[in-house]
Parts: sequence; C-alpha cells; structure tokens
Amino acid sequence: MPPSPQTVVVDGLGLAQEMRKEMSEVIGRHLSQDRRAPCLAVVLVGDDPASASYIKGKRRACKRIGMESVERKLPKETTEAELLEVLDELNSDDTVDGILVQLPLPGGISANTIATAIDPAKDVDGLNPVNVGRLVLGEPCHVPCTPAGIMEILERFETPLEGAQAVVIGRSAIVGKPISLLLQQANATVTMCHSRTRDLADVCRTADVLIAAVGVPKLVKGDWVKPGASVIDVGVSSVDGELVGDVDTEGVQGRAKIVTPHRRGVGPMTITLLLANTLSAYEANLA
Ligand code: GUN
Repeated sequence: MPPSPQTVVVDGLGLAQEMRKEMSEVIGRHLSQDRRAPCLAVVLVGDDPASASYIKGKRRACKRIGMESVERKLPKETTEAELLEVLDELNSDDTVDGILVQLPLPGGISANTIATAIDPAKDVDGLNPVNVGRLVLGEPCHVPCTPAGIMEILERFETPLEGAQAVVIGRSAIVGKPISLLLQQANATVTMCHSRTRDLADVCRTADVLIAAVGVPKLVKGDWVKPGASVIDVGVSSVDGELVGDVDTEGVQGRAKIVTPHRRGVGPMTITLLLANTLSAYEANLA
C-alpha cells in the first residue's frame, strides 16, 4: 500500500446524516401507506448522567427520522426481577419493534441475563445470545451497532478487506469480538489484541485496518500505523475533563489513509445503525 501524505479524517456525522435521510424516506413511504411508525423502546436504570445523555441523543435521532420512541426510566434500586418484568411487557407489545437497555447496569443486575431476556427479534443491540450465535454462524441477525457502523464506514471509504490484515485492539462483547467476526466474514485476516498482547506496537504495524476499541487514551501512536492503513478509533475516555480517543489522531496524520476522529467519528454511526436495526425489526414485524 502506498504512503498517504494526506490523511482523510472521516466525517462520521455526515455519513450518519446521509443514512438517516435515506431511512426517513423509507419511513415516510410506510406512513404514506397508513402504517404505524417504527418504535424503539429505551430502558434506563439509574441516574448515570452519561447514560441519560446517550438515551436523549438516541430518542432525538428517532424523532428526526419519524421513528417513535418510548422510554422506561427505572430507579437505581430496581432489581433484576423488576427489570425482567418490564422486558416481558415490552417483548409482548406488538407496537414496540426494538428494545435497548442502556449499559452499564447498576450492580446486582447481570447484563447477560438482561440481554438474554430480550426477544431476539427486538434485540437491536445484537447482544442476545441468539443474535451472537447467528453472527458467529454467519446467519442474518441484529449486529451490534458500533461494529455495524464501523463496517459501513469502511465500505463507504472503499477500504479493501479481502485478504487485508486487520488488527483489533480490545475484546469486548459489544465491539471487539463482533467487529473481528465481521472483518473475518469480509475475508480479512484478523488479529485480536488485548491487555496481555506482547509487542502490541509491532502487531499494529502489520495492520491494513486497525480498530482501537480498548478505552486507553491515545494508546495508538503515529509510528504504530502502517502507511496507508485505515484507522478506526472507537475508544472514548475522559482525561482532565476532556474526551480523548484510543488513537493519537494528530500523530497518525500523513501516515493513515483514513482515521475516524473521537468526536463525530464512530459515535454518530453507532446511533444510525441502532435506527437501521430498529427499522429492519419493524419491517420484519410488518411482514
Ligand atoms: N452503552 C454504551 N454503548 C452502548 C450500546 O451500544 N448499547 C447499550 N445498550 N448500551 C451502551
């Protein structure tokens, strides 16, 4: 791959807006045929301000494309059994197409138990074991929103994946593991790295596609990046009150072909893919 004197900083917000416009047109066509609007239920347990703000952003995004959203705000003392009851109700409500339980959950509630309780057809986060299993098997399923958003970015920037070396830093259930499967399904050769990986910098230098999803501020330095590589920064950490990503964005300038900024990069695409998963759940529900 030739060196890239000019690194393109991905405008994730612009891409997200393009996709949302397409979705709002699809919803408009459904409404014009006297169908109800798609509906996403968001569940928030506790009063974590960051989670409350994410939920607000998700609901605003729904509204802007003509999608309904309902919110269930539960106190931080909510027990797992009480949350399971709420999910039962939402699972059996035919007017709810997608269900998202905002993470993290308060101590005492198992995120895996909760994901398992969501109807797989409504599991727009793609965290129910049925969807996880289908993803592993390469079957149609709801794919977790951040990895699905990353694949859209790579596709829209015409990043060759066939035979490419992809390196993923981070092995979370919500990003690292699913993105490694998606890249593999696109015929990349994937190396998974994590906190015990030896010679991380050298492994990263082999990457044509480098995904940093570990939450360590500015972990990926400029000289870790192979000239011409596509670099996706998923991490967000707060350092002295300022948000920073996993990638030293300035350091990779002039080396990477593309890089996603930690703001207006992957984030808007994650919400967009949540909308896309809800729209596809709605259309399956209609069918
Ligand atoms: N908290 C941070 N990211 C996510 C996400 O993608 N889904 C849910 N449910 N909670 C989150």
